[in-house]
Amino acid sequence: MTAAQSKKHYDLSEVLIDEKTLAKRIAELGAEITKDYEGRSIVLIGILKGSIPFIADLMRHIKLDDLEVDYISVSSYGRSTKSSGVVRILKDLDSDIKSKDVIIVEDIIDTGLTLAYLKEYFMGRNPNSLKICTLLDKPSRRKVDIRGDYVGFQVEDRFIVGYGLDVDQRYRNLPFISWIKEE
Ligand code: IMP
Ligand code: MG
Repeated sequence: MTAAQSKKHYDLSEVLIDEKTLAKRIAELGAEITKDYEGRSIVLIGILKGSIPFIADLMRHIKLDDLEVDYISVSSYGRSTKSSGVVRILKDLDSDIKSKDVIIVEDIIDTGLTLAYLKEYFMGRNPNSLKICTLLDKPSRRKVDIRGDYVGFQVEDRFIVGYGLDVDQRYRNLPFISWIKEE
């Protein structure tokens, strides 16, 4: 049996958010951030791996001279589609965010556990300000009081894949947002 054959089968459903709609909304978010942070220096922190396509598109719509990008890698889900509530830091920031204006860039806020943890973790490093920009928001699943300052789209309680989001590390490469049927 090849590696591909031994992988679990997932039923990919219809397109929820197409490429054009994603591009348009991300351009709007970039413009909003540009306006809010005019004349300031910002650090975007992408949460690996899910935020990669989003942060890559978003940063090109933020028209500020002094913009840095850094990444942190955390693991909260393992291989399953249910949150364990356990956040592990796999790769920390490279830069010092003390006194900086920081925006966390995330693919989706689901239970909020990951961002609640990261928010506290980053606040411990004394940034000047800390905001959250998330492409997707699933408010119905929230377990802690966390909200995005910049939100692309609200989605229903479905398991989303594509444009960075994965199931079992797959489908991150889809250029649109879809969802899978869970058994
Ligand atoms: P939270 O801690 O429950 O808010 O979940 C945070 C992380 O879980 C996100 O950054 C995603 O990586 C992952 N996640 C949550 N919901 C989904 C989903 O619908 N599809 C794929 N990944 C998800
Ligand atoms: Mg993630």
